[in-house]
Amino acid sequence: MTDPLDHWARPAGSAVLLDGFHALKHALRFGAEVPVAVTTDRTATLALAAELAPDVREALAALLTEVASQTYASLVPRPHPTGVAALAVRPSREANLRELARVPRTAPVVVLDEPRNLGNAGAVIRLAAGFGATGVITTGTLDPWHPTVVRGGAGLHFATAVERLTVPELPEGPLYALDPEGEDIRGAKLPDDAILAFGSERMGLSAELRARADNLLRLPMHPQVSSYNLATSVAMTLFHWSAP
Ligand SMILES: C[S@@+](CC[C@H](N)C(=O)[O-])C[C@H]1O[C@@H](n2cnc3c(N)ncnc32)[C@H](O)[C@@H]1O
Repeated sequence: MTDPLDHWARPAGSAVLLDGFHALKHALRFGAEVPVAVTTDRTATLALAAELAPDVREALAALLTEVASQTYASLVPRPHPTGVAALAVRPSREANLRELARVPRTAPVVVLDEPRNLGNAGAVIRLAAGFGATGVITTGTLDPWHPTVVRGGAGLHFATAVERLTVPELPEGPLYALDPEGEDIRGAKLPDDAILAFGSERMGLSAELRARADNLLRLPMHPQVSSYNLATSVAMTLFHWSAP
């Protein structure tokens, strides 16, 4: 029989670390392929599943291998309080690109234009999953599948299409770029096929993204406040899209 830990010894290039119970729960729920999962306490993890996620308890029971605490600590960069970790197969880029390009679209695509903060990117992916957005695209150098982004996304990379593209490669559709100098968003109805673009934490929107934008929209803000946090801006905009 193959030792489950062999997967960690020879991880596939596409392996994604799922850090903690909740990331594993979400990944399983949204159909991720998970070849290996470990826990430091199988009984406690299955009890947690019965309490918080009965829909994936059976899948977890079939998957989880109990390992010693030291073994677990050697597999992860930073031990998680739940003592759970797993490896998932990253979805194919081709499939994600097909999903992002599919028209007609029933929910917006979120674009983060040259984001810098890995935690912000993870929080945005979690928001996109929560609102049922079609996907999240990053431009620039940040890898949206970086382990810290995956940790921030709580396993929800598998619930929406997450890829990195250049501005000319963005999917078609009306592009609404969020900027404090734009028109008040409260007067705009965001269509389901909108591309919603947000600038970087320090520099705002790039010139290239601005040139591609069909509309610039601002979120209401007191005059003496310069800007909102990036993920907070995405939350308000997706909420505005979802409002009847
Ligand atoms: C932290 S802000 C960027 C601040 C940057 N110093 C600037 O000059 O724009 C990150 C992104 O959040 C969005 N954002 C923040 N506050 C906003 C507001 N009041 N209206 C519209 N978008 C906003 C924009 O997309 C912005 O590029």
